[in-house]
Amino acid sequence: MNPEKLPANASGLEPDSIPRHVAMIMDGNGRWAARRGLSRVFGHVEGHKTVRRITNLAGHLGVHYLTLYAFSVENWRRPAEEVSALMELIEHVAHEEIPSLCQENVRFNIIGRLQDLPEPLRLELERDMELTRDNTGLTLTLAVNYGGRSEIVDAVRRLVADGVTPEQVDEQAISSRLYTADIPDPDLLIRTAGELRVSNYLLWQIAYTEIYVTDTLWPDLSEKDFVDALLAYQKRTRKFGGLVS
Ligand code: IPE
Ligand code: IPE
Ligand code: MG
Repeated sequence: MNPEKLPANASGLEPDSIPRHVAMIMDGNGRWAARRGLSRVFGHVEGHKTVRRITNLAGHLGVHYLTLYAFSVENWRRPAEEVSALMELIEHVAHEEIPSLCQENVRFNIIGRLQDLPEPLRLELERDMELTRDNTGLTLTLAVNYGGRSEIVDAVRRLVADGVTPEQVDEQAISSRLYTADIPDPDLLIRTAGELRVSNYLLWQIAYTEIYVTDTLWPDLSEKDFVDALLAYQKRTRKFGGLVS
């Protein structure tokens, strides 16, 4: 993206304190569709355009990691038609986006219980991770069939399988067995569509993450809105339990 294509408010950003890792709960697709009298699936399709917009912008602003919540382990509770439409959409989008992600030097990553996904989707996601493995720009992580609690359960299972003794269990022993082992904790968590909850997202990793909630629905989220979230983040004082000198 040309600097002149950045939203006007981006000039107010402090380049030295761009959050390294931004996590997002992409919520409000269903409401976006309902307000237009459309079926929920249209909201998910429209939401894909926002994924593209925000991924592009985040890379250009110097964010290193963007982690998007695409499908939670609880989302299987939705009607079967919506679930299968979502699975097909994620597969289609992943497939379709690979050339442009490669062109933008984006590394594509997935967190979640991949083994429980439909086979074609799992294969597509694994292929995409492999194809972009050596890219050195933004790391775009999609959380698919992801749950923060299941992630911790999986980490504990690995601890046990690795024969770790009680004395050896510390925060590092757990962090290094999470799906996000090679990713720093998020600096900023943005949730769209106004709900004030974390919905089982990155429970361990957001211990000291700054949270920003906007009422804007995911499909409506603009580049300017994303920059507004970063501007708000840059006004926060992070203390990590200590005192600010
Ligand atoms: C977020 O939008 C997308 C997914 C959870 C897959 P929703 O589908 O939750 O939209 P609302 O919350 O019903 O508006
Ligand atoms: C969180 O949104 C999950 C994703 C964005 C994938 P939900 O719409 O599923 O969350 P709740 O049900 O409102 O907490
Ligand atoms: Mg929702």
